[in-house]
Amino acid sequence: MTPSDIDAAIRLWRDTPGMGLSVHDDNPEAVARFIERNPRTCLVADDGQGLLGCVLCGHDGRRATIYHLAVRQDARLRGVGKALVTACASAMSMEGIDKLRLLVFKTNEGGNAFWESIGFHARDDVVYRDKRSKENKESKASFLFNGECDIMKSLNVESRDC
Ligand SMILES: CC(C)(COP(=O)(O)OP(=O)(O)OC[C@H]1O[C@@H](n2cnc3c(N)ncnc32)[C@H](O)[C@@H]1OP(=O)(O)O)[C@@H](O)C(=O)NCCC(=O)NCCS
Repeated sequence: MTPSDIDAAIRLWRDTPGMGLSVHDDNPEAVARFIERNPRTCLVADDGQGLLGCVLCGHDGRRATIYHLAVRQDARLRGVGKALVTACASAMSMEGIDKLRLLVFKTNEGGNAFWESIGFHARDDVVYRDKRSKENKESKASFLFNGECDIMKSLNVESRDC
């Protein structure tokens, strides 16, 4: 993925029901920062006429995390999603990272069926916890003030921040 893919990637995510988008992490600047940090492991599938699918993948030196895998509705069940994840795994392997993980909503039946079928098994021995920094809480307030959550809801986009 290069900076020129970012707008199309964000459009695909916004057009994909059920993606857990964040106003903090899924704006063009934040995505650009992510791909700058992970230049070889954020990938797109393109048929020459446009984006078929994309995925963000980054690592912290121990493990890789996969974010926002999405394949355009009319390109699904043709192996694009699996090819993107396989390519991510190879790219990570080149960086010495062999363990990949991801989060997926429990309610995402199709997504969970996909991950299961390509060998990403659910763990029931861990609890996912997180916390936002003060700085992020302040920027959330400014988005709320600007009606960002109303816009996200009207677009039928789920957001962790609203
Ligand atoms: C999940 C998603 C990325 C799968 O992409 P895809 O290109 O259709 O998947 P593939 O064609 O590569 O499928 C790989 C395997 O998963 C299976 N699979 C894919 N979608 C499935 C579904 N909805 N239900 C059951 N199995 C599914 C395929 O049958 C295939 O199995 P096989 O190798 O045994 O034939 C796509 O449906 C999508 O974008 N969904 C919305 C976003 C999302 O949920 N992302 C994942 C959460 S982070």
